[in-house]
Amino acid sequence: MKKQVPLNKAKWLVEPGCVVLVTSGTMQKPNVMTFSWQTPVNSADPCLILLAISHLRYSYDLIRQNRQLVINVPGQELLEQVHFIGQVSGRKIDKFKETGLTPIPAKTVEPPLIKECAGHLECKVVEIFKMQTHDLLICKVVRAEAEPELFAGRWIPEKFRTLHYLGGNKYGVLERTTEARGTNNGHGNSLTRVCL
Ligand SMILES: Cc1cc2nc3c(=O)[nH]c(=O)nc-3n(C[C@H](O)[C@H](O)[C@H](O)COP(=O)(O)O)c2cc1C
Repeated sequence: MKKQVPLNKAKWLVEPGCVVLVTSGTMQKPNVMTFSWQTPVNSADPCLILLAISHLRYSYDLIRQNRQLVINVPGQELLEQVHFIGQVSGRKIDKFKETGLTPIPAKTVEPPLIKECAGHLECKVVEIFKMQTHDLLICKVVRAEAEPELFAGRWIPEKFRTLHYLGGNKYGVLERTTEARGTNNGHGNSLTRVCL
């Protein structure tokens, strides 16, 4: 029998989206913050990504200034940097200097890309919805790029392992691709194909 999950823990049932590093500010004075509350909200053009950000974050102050940010996708090899960047505020330290990550200029926005990440989404914030502890930023992706050996329309987990936040200092890693045959519903009946 399944056990009831307290409502203040319920989010962990759906939490483990891919963890990202969001850069803000400018190439001259950049900041970086770890995010797990991110989701696409539009499937085609424009590509829109929703980020939930606490009012307390230094990154939020910077994002409000130029309404620009970059979503960078780190792999398992950046685990320690990802966790550290999610623990300390850029108000106090230069997180690029502390972690050794390299800011490089973006093509269309002021905040930098992180060289060590395998993919980048350059974004402009088009809407902000005020919530209680976190606001919802709707980010329009204006340019995207990824390592072609690691991303072939989708990440290849056999070559590139994304991080998925499980709470505390625990992360999951995506390790392999599995494929649904897509021809029956598990009881032998044919299904209509539905794709995102
Ligand atoms: C794995 C992980 C995921 C996080 N996800 C979010 C998030 O989705 N939204 C948020 O506001 N803070 C999130 N945080 C917390 C911020 O990354 C953290 O407060 C950071 O120090 C803010 O940096 P800043 O003050 O330099 O902007 C997360 C932290 C970790 C470790």
